[in-house]
Amino acid sequence: PTEERALIRLSLPSKGRLAEDSFQLLEECGLKIYKPNPRQYAATIPALPGLVVLFQRPGDIVSSVRDGSVDFGITGLDVVEEFKGPNQDILILHEALQFGRCDLSLAVPESLEGVQSMLDLQVYASRLPSPLRVATKYPVLTTQFLNQYQIPHTLISAEGTLELAPTIGYADIISDLVSSGQTLRDNRLRPLPDGNILHSQAVLVANRKALQENPQALQVAHTLLEYIEAHLRA
Ligand code: PRP
Repeated sequence: PTEERALIRLSLPSKGRLAEDSFQLLEECGLKIYKPNPRQYAATIPALPGLVVLFQRPGDIVSSVRDGSVDFGITGLDVVEEFKGPNQDILILHEALQFGRCDLSLAVPESLEGVQSMLDLQVYASRLPSPLRVATKYPVLTTQFLNQYQIPHTLISAEGTLELAPTIGYADIISDLVSSGQTLRDNRLRPLPDGNILHSQAVLVANRKALQENPQALQVAHTLLEYIEAHLRA
């Protein structure tokens, strides 16, 4: 339980685009992070004594904040919505940190010329001998979306080579993050204009119970928000 921990924990993305931008955001806010040495897993923010900074993968940040092993996290709304679970353990404290913008979107092979919209996709899927095969790292959000359109489908879980799935032949379409669109173009895929599942950007999240039960965590929440909002207003 949170109250037994001396230090408040904040998790930041350990690698990738979100990592650099979170670091920079906090620095610009006047909350510079000090990492004693690059191999160490923890860091501190002198402006926030009593707080330790940890580094995790974006999806793992959601699990940690959700189960309360970490009090605060900066990560993408995409993974928050995918992994937050049915109970309201995670509170979004700031919903628009102004970086890490991308869309979770359905994309089809360029060669599927008859599929230009969700309606076309419905028709296409209804003519397939078996359910539409969709490769994704976002099964929860993708299924919800396809169910709204009543499109029978099976999810294919894919790790690194998601965009290759349609070319190789183990999926018909994909559901993935699109930022510049370059990855899709490189793989001869195109997003469906009305197949946008979620607009995402970086968000600040907190464990709800920590805020309710730990005055120190509540204080940190106020301070973090104060610094972040002052910076974003400027
Ligand atoms: C994401 C996503 C795409 C790519 C899209 O991967 O999975 O592969 O970015 O960006 P683009 O539209 O600008 O080409 P990311 O680089 O975040 O890392 P990941 O492969 O670990 O998901």
